[in-house]
Order: sequence, then structure tokens, then C-alpha cells
Amino acid sequence: MAFNLLVLPGDGIGTEVVGAALQVVERLRDNHGWQVVVSQDLIGGAACNHHGVPLAPETKDRATAADAVLLGAVGGPDFDHLPLNKRPEQGLLQLRQAMGVYANLRPARVFPSLVQASSLKPELVSDLDILMVRELTGGLYFGQPRGFEDLGDGNRRGFNTQTYTNLEIVRVARVAFRLAQQRGKKLCSIDKANVLESGRLWRDEVSKLGAAEYPDVALTHMYVDNAAMQLVRAPKQFDVILTDNMFGDILSDEAAQLTGSLGMLPSASLGDVVAGRPHQPGLYEPIHGSAPDIAGQDRANPLATILSLAMLLRFSAGQPALADRIEQAVATLLADGARTQDLAAAGEVAIGTQEMTARLLKLL
Ligand code: IPM
Ligand code: MG
Repeated sequence: MAFNLLVLPGDGIGTEVVGAALQVVERLRDNHGWQVVVSQDLIGGAACNHHGVPLAPETKDRATAADAVLLGAVGGPDFDHLPLNKRPEQGLLQLRQAMGVYANLRPARVFPSLVQASSLKPELVSDLDILMVRELTGGLYFGQPRGFEDLGDGNRRGFNTQTYTNLEIVRVARVAFRLAQQRGKKLCSIDKANVLESGRLWRDEVSKLGAAEYPDVALTHMYVDNAAMQLVRAPKQFDVILTDNMFGDILSDEAAQLTGSLGMLPSASLGDVVAGRPHQPGLYEPIHGSAPDIAGQDRANPLATILSLAMLLRFSAGQPALADRIEQAVATLLADGARTQDLAAAGEVAIGTQEMTARLLKLL
């Protein structure tokens, strides 16, 4: 049966980078025998404009029925006036929740030819290969109660709830431990256990699970403030990082910059393997945003989305050879000197989204 792929380009450069990835999908279908059927729908600001909500119920249904979803980016200045629950970002949060994709994998790998593009010294980042596992459907971004309160005296209060249950912690920790077993067998769990109850529970649960089921993985713990500092001081000390939703949101942007550009980082969001389904469903997206400042100008780097497609082929489509092929082509392309503007050093010529994609297709 053909693989059922739903693409949600979203807003801003989302349409351009997903357009690039779709050309790669077509190439894999036409020349490499990948049986895939693609459908497309709206999310984020595009859905707000069309449906009045950032994720229409029918889109949610299509996403949960799909074998995988490839998403671009959501958001933009046109929507800044909207109440929080109607903003484009809510579409993405609702989608993650509806798909049950609680484990967000964000690999930060430095391609040898991009060492100079990092803002850190070459010796700190050459051969860097970190995998961040971010909890994605709990914590501060979903906790109840949340809202605004009128204090009656002309003042207001805004509040959110940071909350985790042991079950939410253990299921994402298990994903991180398993991935660590397949890599360098090192896991660093990041929390704020010295201040937050949810962080204390996080640390206790991760420790218990590690001792009981993954004694072969060297588990360490780090407070998030220290981790933010260590990531720019000595990033190569990390192998797999496990952290909660908000800390992972912040630290993954930091890790992305280590690799030279936010435009290089792919992600895969996975949930439980569902019995009776031939594929592990997943949501795949670049970690960068919609970049309204460069949208529609053929300047976006499509590689994070194309590398997200590679993750999709590996984790959801059971096509690891095609995933390798894409990743190798990206490495070759960069070694040959192809640079979008986010990657170009002073004096280097930058090419556009379409030219980058065309050169990649030649290598496939
Ligand atoms: C990310 C983004 C999203 C998040 C936004 C767009 C809701 O920053 O994927 O990191 O906060 O998770
Ligand atoms: Mg983010």
C-alpha cells in the first residue's frame, strides 16, 4: 500500500521549503521506487485566513489518519493582534497533541564543510553530533489552568502551569534512552530540579527508569541554566539530551546555532507505535520558523526541511536507504560549496532556495 503523506506548508518560508522538499519526494517516487501519495492542507496563519482557525477539524482528522505529516512553519506578523488561542502557533500545538507525538527528536550535527559557519570556534564544534529529545505535548505549553485574570484594580495577571505526570516523563525518557543505546550510550537529562516540583519529579523518574531498564546508558543530570552555558562552552560533552517542552524549545535553538544556522536543523516528532498500523506515524518539520522577513524572496534554506524528509523516510516510511541517500547528497552539496545566504560566509556567493534544491536533485 502506498505511503500516505500529508504536507502542511503553513506560512512564510514554510511554503518555499516544503515546495523544495516536495520536489525531492517526487524524485524519490519517480526514480527510486518510493510508493507515496501526497495530499496537502492548510495550517497556521494560512488556515486562520481560510477557516478562521489555525487548524480546521478536517485537517486534524487527515493528519491523524496520515502515515506521516511534513510541515513547514507557522506564524507571522499579520497575526500578532490575535488572542493567543487563535494564533497560528496554536495550530501547531494542537496538531502535535492530536497526533500524540510526545517525543521530539532534534539532531544538531555539524557538517564538516560548515564548521566555519558556526559562531563558535572550529575546535569546539567540528564533528559535533548531539541529539536533543524534547518532550512535546506536556509541560508549560499545555498545562492547565492558564489564562489572564483581571485583578479588579486596573492590574492584570497572566498565568500558566508547568505540570508533568510520571507517565509523561517516563514515555519520553524511554525514547531518549533507546536512542542513546543506538549512539554513544550517554544521556544527559536537563531539568530545574533545584526549584521546580515538576523538575524534581522529572529527575526522580528518569533516574529510576535508567537504573531499572537502561543500566548500559551513562545517565547524568544537569540544571537547565548550566546546560545553556555548557552548550556554548563545551558542546561536545553531550551525546543525547533529554529535556522538557519549554527547555527543549529554548535549548534546541541554541544547539541549532552551533551547527552554523537554524536553517539546517530538522526534527521528527514521534508517538507510540500503534498496533495494526503499518507505519509509525510522525510529524516532521524544520525547527526554524516562518521567517517573514525573507518570505517569498527565494532566500530560505530548504535543507532543514529536506533533512526532515530524510528523518521521515527513516522513522516512518521504513526507507533508511533513501534517508541515507538524501543525507549524503546534502553533505556533498555543502562540500561542493553550495550556500544559501544563512550559510554564506563573507565573500561567499549565496544561492537561492530553488537553485539549492535543483543542485540537490542533480545529486539524487
Ligand atoms: C518550535 C517552535 C514552536 C514551539 C512554536 C512555533 C509553537 O518554536 O517548534 O520550536 O514553541 O514548539
Ligand atoms: Mg522553537
